[in-house]
Amino acid sequence: MLNIDALAKAHAEAPVFRGVSLQVRAGEFVALLGESGVGKSTLLNCIAGLDEADTGRIELDGVEVGPLSADARARLRREKLGFVFQAFHVLPHLSVAENVELPLRLLGTAWRAGRRDGADARVQELLGAVGLGGLGGRLPAQLSGGQLQRVAIARALVHRPALILADEPTGNLDPATAARVMEALVAQAHVSGAACLLVTHSAAAAARADRVLRLTADGVVDGTGADAGLASAEPRARPCP
Ligand SMILES: Nc1ncnc2c1ncn2[C@@H]1O[C@H](COP(=O)(O)OP(=O)(O)O)[C@@H](O)[C@H]1O
Ligand SMILES: [Mg+2]
Repeated sequence: MLNIDALAKAHAEAPVFRGVSLQVRAGEFVALLGESGVGKSTLLNCIAGLDEADTGRIELDGVEVGPLSADARARLRREKLGFVFQAFHVLPHLSVAENVELPLRLLGTAWRAGRRDGADARVQELLGAVGLGGLGGRLPAQLSGGQLQRVAIARALVHRPALILADEPTGNLDPATAARVMEALVAQAHVSGAACLLVTHSAAAAARADRVLRLTADGVVDGTGADAGLASAEPRARPCP
């Protein structure tokens, strides 16, 4: 689903990373570790077409991202990608349900034409799946941090993206809430059969992954070693209420 080959990136002549190659298959959940500043967010932004690598190639569902126009990238992003950020990025003036519906609205008729189920039903299904059933009418200000991140997960999955990118989605949450949010993300990623690339510092989150990789300045290595630099143990993940 995601195929990255020999990617290199520098900011204003300061190298960030080089020789980055990795693959994530459909249905696979991969955790990506790495020290702060090594370029994890930069890498996810390059995959999403929000930033550009200097050399190397990124292929998303068989399409090479680099040569695409800005419009084509935006379309690819809307159709194929779900992105979960550390800082939630939920829109404050929209209700919880409207936030989750947003990707469907952006896809417009392209989404509706191919689906029998309506957008409302799909939004309610996702809210229920992440443990927020009944809260669709609330405004984001009326939710806790853990609930907001579950809104962001529902929003990232509502249009059935082929690839989910998550950038430290539990970084702003207490351990118990983080475990609950991870449970929602892992469960929904598996249900949808999407490929998932998760940047995390959490040992509990990495333990849920099918594979653990580590980003270094010189490329991606196996991340399961003793010096993986993971945050200390968190409580075992429990299902959403
Ligand atoms: N827009 C930018 N301009 C210049 N340098 C940047 C920019 N964004 C990030 N950097 C630098 O690139 C490096 C990688 O940043 P980042 O991808 O955020 O790392 P990580 O997510 O692994 O903590 C850091 O040294 C950071 O200071
Ligand atoms: Mg980062």
